[in-house]
Amino acid sequence: MQAVPPFHPGELWPDTDGVAINAHGGGFLYRDGMYYWYGEFKTEGPGGNVANVGVSVYSSNDLYHWKNEGIALKVSDDPASDIVKGSVIERPKVLFNAKTHLYVMWFHLELKGKGYSAARAGVATSSSPTGPFKFVRDFRPDGEMSRDMTLYQDDDGKAYLITTSENNQTQHLSELAPDYLDTTGHYTRIFEHKALEGAAIFKANGHYFYIGSHTTGWAPNPAYAAVADSLAGPWKELGNPCLGPNAELTFGAQSTYVLPVAGKPGAFIFVADQWRPKNAIDGRYVWLPIKISGDTFSITWSDAWDLNVFPGASVAAPSTRTKSSKRRSAK
Ligand code: DGJ
Repeated sequence: MQAVPPFHPGELWPDTDGVAINAHGGGFLYRDGMYYWYGEFKTEGPGGNVANVGVSVYSSNDLYHWKNEGIALKVSDDPASDIVKGSVIERPKVLFNAKTHLYVMWFHLELKGKGYSAARAGVATSSSPTGPFKFVRDFRPDGEMSRDMTLYQDDDGKAYLITTSENNQTQHLSELAPDYLDTTGHYTRIFEHKALEGAAIFKANGHYFYIGSHTTGWAPNPAYAAVADSLAGPWKELGNPCLGPNAELTFGAQSTYVLPVAGKPGAFIFVADQWRPKNAIDGRYVWLPIKISGDTFSITWSDAWDLNVFPGASVAAPSTRTKSSKRRSAK
């Protein structure tokens, strides 16, 4: 087996069992020294984009080595359930609620056999970060359409749903209730008529930064970045922050999350998906370091990199990683 350096954007990424990580459209949580990676568990073939299994979860204490923790949220066998096998469950994101001590998962939900017309959000909770998560309910947040979505927890503990609404035309920044199980009905329309999705938000240098994509299905398009002093805006457009080969198509990928490196102020990782709609399980992950300069940022392609690229960050690189071609199957 060939030893390879830590992050290899676009290559197969084996977990600690040597099986390719299966967590697409991912979201991350850092808690008690551990990172958790939640994502869509895809299966083989063109039907592999629907939820045949559920939401997977992996854990890591160094961002390099990921342990398979199983399926955090399982699809239901009950045809009456909105999360029945064959529904669409995308872009799961998890926050810890300090008041209820529950881990709260939100995801984009489409009802089985209805294409993308339902435009709903689902909520599930668990007392453990690795689950099992119990499905609570699904709905249209604030009574509005909701497709691609993310969650953002601000420094004051207040949390928001950022979702592609109004038939993919405008994003809604929707305030979550204190228990994170619902929205409050207060929302702000942001990026009006810009038709953005794949939203991710991070905060650095006192600014809020946004990265998203345009809406071209599973096909890549140029990334869209913006900066603001307040989540509600006004947002100033920064253009496409990507640099290097295939930067005009976001390196063949679509944004899903910006991952803060714990204990390293200013260190953020851009996380994106290279989708493979004909064989969804073969979708790849693009992780790249974000370079922040004042009130702007850039993302430069690199074939291989590790956490030492971040200024001031001295992080021991792991011994090695080994290439694997094994596929994880449903449990
Ligand atoms: C783009 C979205 O970002 C994905 O999550 C997925 O919903 C596809 N569209 C479906 O075409």
